[in-house]
Amino acid sequence: MARRLTILGSTGSIGKSALRVVRDCPGEFEIVGLGANSNVDELARQIDEFKPARAALADAAAAARLQQQVPGTEIDCGPDSIADLAAVDVDLVLCGLVGAVGLPSILRALESGNRIALANKEPMVMAGRLIMSEARERGVRVLPVDSEHNAVFQLLEGRDLADLRRVYLTASGGPFYGRPRESLRDVKPEEAMKHPRWDMGAKISVDSATLMNKGLEIIEAMWLFDLPLETIEAIIHPQSLVHGLVEFKDGHILAHLGVTDMTLPIQFALTWPKRVESSMARLDLAAMGELSFAAPDFSEFPCLGHAMQAARQGGTAGAVLNAANEVAVAAFRQGRIPYLAIAEVVGEVLESSSYCEEYSLESILEVDAETRRLAEGVVQASGVTSL
Ligand SMILES: NC(=O)c1ccc[n+]([C@@H]2O[C@H](COP(=O)([O-])OP(=O)(O)OC[C@H]3O[C@@H](n4cnc5c(N)ncnc54)[C@H](OP(=O)(O)O)[C@@H]3O)[C@@H](O)[C@H]2O)c1
Repeated sequence: MARRLTILGSTGSIGKSALRVVRDCPGEFEIVGLGANSNVDELARQIDEFKPARAALADAAAAARLQQQVPGTEIDCGPDSIADLAAVDVDLVLCGLVGAVGLPSILRALESGNRIALANKEPMVMAGRLIMSEARERGVRVLPVDSEHNAVFQLLEGRDLADLRRVYLTASGGPFYGRPRESLRDVKPEEAMKHPRWDMGAKISVDSATLMNKGLEIIEAMWLFDLPLETIEAIIHPQSLVHGLVEFKDGHILAHLGVTDMTLPIQFALTWPKRVESSMARLDLAAMGELSFAAPDFSEFPCLGHAMQAARQGGTAGAVLNAANEVAVAAFRQGRIPYLAIAEVVGEVLESSSYCEEYSLESILEVDAETRRLAEGVVQASGVTSL
């Protein structure tokens, strides 16, 4: 029986890779729903090829244009339409949305009993406790798509967590690894988005350059695997061939290797617990060359330190960290602040925010909105509003 699948963020980097997996595994999947923000042409192509029963665009004007292109498929629209799509009964919802916007959809999918393949890490950073308690209550699995978490998931499957000493999440170091910080004053968004190993969406590419991405992933791993912060470490591995490692109390370290292609972890999450033949590129061990590892230098990557601070703080600090970072990265991409100001904006917002331990969906969305206002104020006060 084909698995019924909905893809949120189908027009993005993760969404398109997921559809490559579907194409590559004939008979394994039936696409029930596709959703995105405003990319009319890409979604029209996908509807034509995969014939979903339902589709949605958050942007109403774009949805109206799409409806004209695909009169045979009903197009829902508005921000709630994506969460409504997540709630349609399927075997699996892949969440490839970017940013905090994915949180309501993830919760709606879980409430409806839909298993989730999760790429969209920001909601986990904001509200990991809420997501994982909902998943536990409903008895629904959250399968990690992020390559590092997917690696750790595979390494830990069937193991006794009491034997675990440490989890390592690898980081390439991004396009500026090894360059002194003062040489990064004038880097352009295009340079920051040019990741040396992975081809990804714009926001995660900037997060990879600042290493905020690894900080977000450490918090994501705490929630996904129910681990204390002290057991999770980031390690720089410029070749990006080892994605995750786990160390056990007897000193053994197991590593997961794979090509730098997101179709690999996506396919694993979509077919789990089965493994399905793949025609994607294979890792050539003999051609791999050197594999190197180094501890991250927190003075070179202050965003990683900010994320660790938020992880230690807990409660609503993850939502503050995430919202401040989303605003700062958007401002950098718009040319409103320089690259190095991303970390400064996030640091200043973290310092001037107050936190509480407990939260609900409503209160975390309020924290998100309030932090965005605060961060926007810091961006504007930085005085570099048009570079
Ligand atoms: N890319 C990777 O290799 C990779 C690897 C690991 C984890 N991740 C994580 O996966 C998530 C997606 O990353 P990505 O690189 O695929 O991002 P992306 O290429 O920017 O794609 C984002 C997707 O989300 C949709 N979207 C954006 N805002 C929306 C809104 N308000 N309402 C509805 N849909 C919205 C976009 O639709 P439009 O196209 O219509 O704008 C697009 O389909 C991120 O959380 C990222 O950290 C990505």
